Amino acid sequence: MNYSTDCLIIGSGAAGLTLALGIADKAKVIVLSKEDVCAGSTNYAQGGIAAVYNINDDLDSIENHIRDTCIAGAHICEESAVRFVTENARSAIQWLIDMGVPFDLKETERKEDQSPYHLHREGGHSNRRIFHAEDHTGQTIQETLVEKAKAHPNITILEHHNAIDLITTTKLDLPSNRVLGAYVLNCKTDTVDTIRAKFVALCTGGASKVYQYTCNPEVSSGDGIAMAWRAGCRIANMEFNQFHPTTLFSDQDRNFLLTEALRGEGATLERADGSRFMVDYDERLELAPRDIVARAIDHEMKKLGTDCMYLNISHKPEEFVKKHFPTIYERCLKVGIDITKQPIPIVPAAHFSCGGIMADKRARTDIPGLYAIGECAYTGLHGANRLASNSLLECVVYGQSAASNILKHIDDVDLIDQSLIPNWDDSQVTDSDEEVIIHHNWHELRLTMWDYVGIVRTNKRLQRAMHRIELLKHEVHDYYSNFKVSKNLIELRNLLDVAEIIVRSAMMRKESRGLHYTLDYPDKDDVKKVTIIRNNQ
Ligand code: FAD
Ligand code: SIN
Repeated sequence: MNYSTDCLIIGSGAAGLTLALGIADKAKVIVLSKEDVCAGSTNYAQGGIAAVYNINDDLDSIENHIRDTCIAGAHICEESAVRFVTENARSAIQWLIDMGVPFDLKETERKEDQSPYHLHREGGHSNRRIFHAEDHTGQTIQETLVEKAKAHPNITILEHHNAIDLITTTKLDLPSNRVLGAYVLNCKTDTVDTIRAKFVALCTGGASKVYQYTCNPEVSSGDGIAMAWRAGCRIANMEFNQFHPTTLFSDQDRNFLLTEALRGEGATLERADGSRFMVDYDERLELAPRDIVARAIDHEMKKLGTDCMYLNISHKPEEFVKKHFPTIYERCLKVGIDITKQPIPIVPAAHFSCGGIMADKRARTDIPGLYAIGECAYTGLHGANRLASNSLLECVVYGQSAASNILKHIDDVDLIDQSLIPNWDDSQVTDSDEEVIIHHNWHELRLTMWDYVGIVRTNKRLQRAMHRIELLKHEVHDYYSNFKVSKNLIELRNLLDVAEIIVRSAMMRKESRGLHYTLDYPDKDDVKKVTIIRNNQ
């Protein structure tokens, strides 16, 4: 089937839906999700969204938010991007409130309070500035935006539509440089559609699924980053994959996140004997930035030879815990842990891609007409380690910025003629006869990344990983040339590209900074640099 539209948005999380709602009054929009519309990380966000809302607040200021972001980012954030996001945070929150997001209010408002909202505090923040909806902020935002998008006559949402590759003038040997649309697998009919568009936005989320253990949903396989890479965009800082310090360690429910807001409300990190260990690592204790806390946990686990450490909030009143963290309370109870009475076993897991497709303040990439927004983008905001709750904020701020830029140019661009775009050709390929290759290689890749490219790295481990990735890429390339595309094959091809980008970027950084820690170069360099790579370089 062939479609055409003003703007094709690949991804239906906070980034994609903010853009869609920002342009839909004046433009036709198609939004894709490779699973159902709520399948992305947005739906799983717990802690909330950071903003200094009251700019006249005596306690907090935008300058504080900027400083905290840059410290967490190990001082390689792009300061202009940090300023841009933090200064637009208030209007982003207001937009969400106007859309209908019911952020938690304070229980009792005092006369001297400057805001009616209940704010959480998380690691690396010098103040309470996290807007939240209990401990399911992401789901509340996702559902609110989906409801608005579904009701808009100019927005078409195509679920179970998996973008395979971008169509560009360069790929078709046409003059000038521009994105023209995308080839998309309709997973229900197993046919490949062509979607033409004046503008395309990659809002495909992060790539943490490249690691065996992750708290991310199934869709976080870095597809947008891989598509942009193959199309020739620059990709930056992919060595900085964030590991969240506290995900549930349980045979029955591995990889469920335990929000940092728990530590913001006093939860402590402990050994099995109940002793606190963050005192040995950082003066900010449990509220140190995430890279430091995750490394401390990893170090303790290796030192003690244990499978997990513990997070303990049982000293807080039962009613308080149940009221603020109802989702976590219920979920842990299901696996036999009553968090109001006992410590929770935890391990770190891959959580967030700090790097991504290079995008400017309008979310524009290297290819005219192509935008990248949200976790798949590198904007300079996160540097070497993202500050908690700055991600949803980035999605909304850049989504809005891209929307105003697209609307400004919507009448300057013509859709490419359908006859110039060839249909997807699968006449030379057959149905797969060996799905086992995909299955096996998928497991092997994710384990390789976990073991060799995780929280602590070495040159040797990175070389080993690269060697495995090259072999797997070779096999999968052969497979891709001979068999019909499937969802799993598309994903494995993307994971392999992303793994290669991560390892190459890690090899280029000969220092330890933020989330990239290597035993071969344990110190920080004086020179602060961004790692930028392009395909075939
Ligand atoms: P996502 O919400 O991940 O959406 C990606 C979309 O792209 C999905 O619709 C998916 O189907 C689609 N897609 C992907 N590939 C394709 C393809 N090939 N074709 C078609 N569609 C495709 N951040 C915070 O700021 N605060 C928090 O409290 C917080 N908590 C978190 C808790 C958890 C458990 C997790 C996993 C993340 C958390 N984060 C948090 C991070 C934050 O949720 C994400 O970075 C953010 O939601 C990403 O939004 P997005 O719109 O970029 O992508
Ligand atoms: C959390 O709630 O701990 C996650 C917050 C984030 O990733 O920003």
